[in-house]
Amino acid sequence: MEQSKNSGFNSKLGVILAAAGSAIGLGNIWKFPYEAGQNGGGAFLLVYLLCVILFGMPLLMTEILIGRKAGQSTFSAFRAISGNNRWQWLGWWSALTVLILTGFYFVVTGWCVNYLYEAVVNSYAGMGTDELLTHFTANMSNAPKMILCAIIPVLCTAAILWFGVSSGIERLSKILMPLLLIMMSLMVVRVLLLDGSGEGLRFFFYPDFSHITPSVFMEAAGQCFFSLSVGLGLMITYGAYMPKEQDVTKTSFQVILLDTLVAVLAGVIIFPAVFAFGFDPAEGPQLVFVVLPAVLQHMSFAWLSGVAFFTLLFIAALTSTISLMEVIIASIMEMSRGKLNRHYSVLIATGVICIFVAIYVLSMTGVWSGLQICGHNLFDLSDTLVTNYMMPFSALAMSLFIGWFMPFQDNDLVPHSQKRYKQWLRPAFVFSLRWIVPIAILLIFLNGLGVF
Ligand code: PHE
Repeated sequence: MEQSKNSGFNSKLGVILAAAGSAIGLGNIWKFPYEAGQNGGGAFLLVYLLCVILFGMPLLMTEILIGRKAGQSTFSAFRAISGNNRWQWLGWWSALTVLILTGFYFVVTGWCVNYLYEAVVNSYAGMGTDELLTHFTANMSNAPKMILCAIIPVLCTAAILWFGVSSGIERLSKILMPLLLIMMSLMVVRVLLLDGSGEGLRFFFYPDFSHITPSVFMEAAGQCFFSLSVGLGLMITYGAYMPKEQDVTKTSFQVILLDTLVAVLAGVIIFPAVFAFGFDPAEGPQLVFVVLPAVLQHMSFAWLSGVAFFTLLFIAALTSTISLMEVIIASIMEMSRGKLNRHYSVLIATGVICIFVAIYVLSMTGVWSGLQICGHNLFDLSDTLVTNYMMPFSALAMSLFIGWFMPFQDNDLVPHSQKRYKQWLRPAFVFSLRWIVPIAILLIFLNGLGVF
């Protein structure tokens, strides 16, 4: 496969880092806190952790195993394993889901670029709570600026994939990801010293069971798919690159642990600060972008902290956009049956993504903001559609594919081992793929459609 040459996953650590790089991103630091804020804090955290164990782990393992068995990326893997075209629609479905999601993701990465710029020129310094909120809204209503900010990461990602320097990025993230963790830990210490931070911790860690509703389950399940990058078949591609002797269970566990750690750290930074500065936890998508500048202003070396944090956030987002755009490029190459080479595919993908970005930005501000579908503008709609419906739907299809229809040997799923935990893990994995995952996703869907 062409990508494997460029991705250069020669080491086990390389695959773990690339998979973790895809998983850790804006989903953890931006989406998780605002979803938790809107869905009852501790109640959401609890349901989220449950979803990670119930769906996240088995599905991440499933995708990696499909890729390893097929040796192909998402678009062709189902055909390769089943030996017929009956499951090919799942490849198309994944490609479509990735396309809708990628434009959306780049728009939010553009917000990071904007805040990185603002950190460099020190423009949010000295702003209070209300000013930070109006500042965010003013930024969002400047469509040309937002489009430009989103196109910058599109071009960076395209350049990385054009020159095939993903392995360079991998090496870079080996240094930068730990730095992000250190930076976040310093921020945790700072916010915990703020007056009133205890209330935020209580909000985030103390589950108020009255908040646990079916719709919280839907949001938490969607967030789990989004944050772990499962339900798009993206990890299939990584599975295809994975050395055969690599332990899938361990790798999945490590990726999930890292991903959850970063999300929880983000919550521990945001909520104490929300209460200390008087923000509303249910602020929505702007939450993190108004709270973080407030926190960063209170750090020692405020300017440097701001620049460092937004740079690291940008890199974390970039390791996710690389994985998303790679799927689009690989799909274009496979759809064209090799007629389009990598470079043409990069150009086409870049063009298409820029169009999506422009549509999303214009749907949030001015021109097309009047265009509402089911009460959402196109930007919000793409998020809800992908996270709450399209990703869970392909997760459902994949679990049925592996659990019921495919000629997998038990041994393919979780290799026999003397290790004790593996002896119960294998039946638990198969059982959850056959029953728990499909039934739980179906119930969540039916609830979303208003059946109950
Ligand atoms: N998991 C990424 C994040 O948390 C987003 C993502 C979703 C990336 C799906 C790739 C595929 O930011």
